[in-house]
Amino acid sequence: MHLRLRVWRQPGPRTPGRLVSYDARDLSPEMSFLEMLDVLNERLISTGEVPIAFDHDCREGICGSCGLMINGVAHGPMRGSATCQLHLRSFKDGEEIVVEPWRAQAFPVLRDLVVDRSAFDRIIAAGGYISARTGGVPDANAILIPKGDADAAIDAAACIGCGACVAACPNASASLFAAAKIAHLGLMPQGQPERSRRVLRMVSQMDMEGFGNCANIGECEDACPKLISLDVIARMNRDFLRASVIGDYEAAAPAEAS
Ligand code: SF4
Ligand code: FES
Repeated sequence: MHLRLRVWRQPGPRTPGRLVSYDARDLSPEMSFLEMLDVLNERLISTGEVPIAFDHDCREGICGSCGLMINGVAHGPMRGSATCQLHLRSFKDGEEIVVEPWRAQAFPVLRDLVVDRSAFDRIIAAGGYISARTGGVPDANAILIPKGDADAAIDAAACIGCGACVAACPNASASLFAAAKIAHLGLMPQGQPERSRRVLRMVSQMDMEGFGNCANIGECEDACPKLISLDVIARMNRDFLRASVIGDYEAAAPAEAS
C-alpha cells in the first residue's frame, strides 16, 4: 500500500513550522504507524534529508512516550490505543494522512513531532506520590481495601502520562491526567495522609503550567489510550473543594477514604 503524508516539520522551538508532503510507498498493512515513519526516515537519511523527529520508546502502549495527532485525532482512529499500537490496516490504500504534534501551550514543540511534556513531571512532583515508609512487605490482609476502591485505583493507575487528553481537549486541560494520579493514590489507605495537600498542590501546579480548565466536554476520555473515565475528574473536584473548604482528609478515618 502507499500513503500520502503531510507531516509537521519544525526545526526548533522558536522556528516556524509547516506541513511537508511525503509519498510513503511499498508499505505493508501490518506495519505499525511508527514503523512507517521509520521507513520514511531511512529514505530521507539515504537522500541526505533530515529525518522526522518523533517520540517513542516501548512501542507497546506502556511508556506514554509516543503521541501524534493523526488526521486531527490524538493517537489516531483506533479507540483505546496509543500511536505505537496503531497499524496501517486502519487506513485506506492511497489515503492522505496529516501528522502533527500535540497542540497545547503547555506542551511547546521542540522539533517536528516532539513536544516538551515536562509540565506533567512538575505536576507529579507537586504531589503525585506518597511519603509513607514502605518498610518490609506487610501481610496481604493487614490493611483491608474494598474491592470497588481497589479496582477504581487500578483503573486510574493505568494512565501512562501520554498527554493525549490535553491534545484532544479544546481547552488543553490536563484534568484527566492529574485526576487519574490523584484518584489512584487517594483511593488507597496509603494515600490518605497527604490527600488534601496532594490535590491542592497538583491542581495549583496544573494551573501554573498554563493548562486550561475542564468544561466537561469529554474529548479527553475518548482520546485516552487507557480509557480513563471522566469520573476521576469529578472525584478530583470533590477532593479539591473539600480540601479547600475543610482541609481535613489528613484526619479522616480509613473508612472515609473513598
Ligand atoms: S489520562 Fe489517558 S490520555 Fe491523559 S495522560 Fe493519562 S493515559 Fe494519556
Ligand atoms: S511508545 Fe510507549 S506507549 Fe507508545
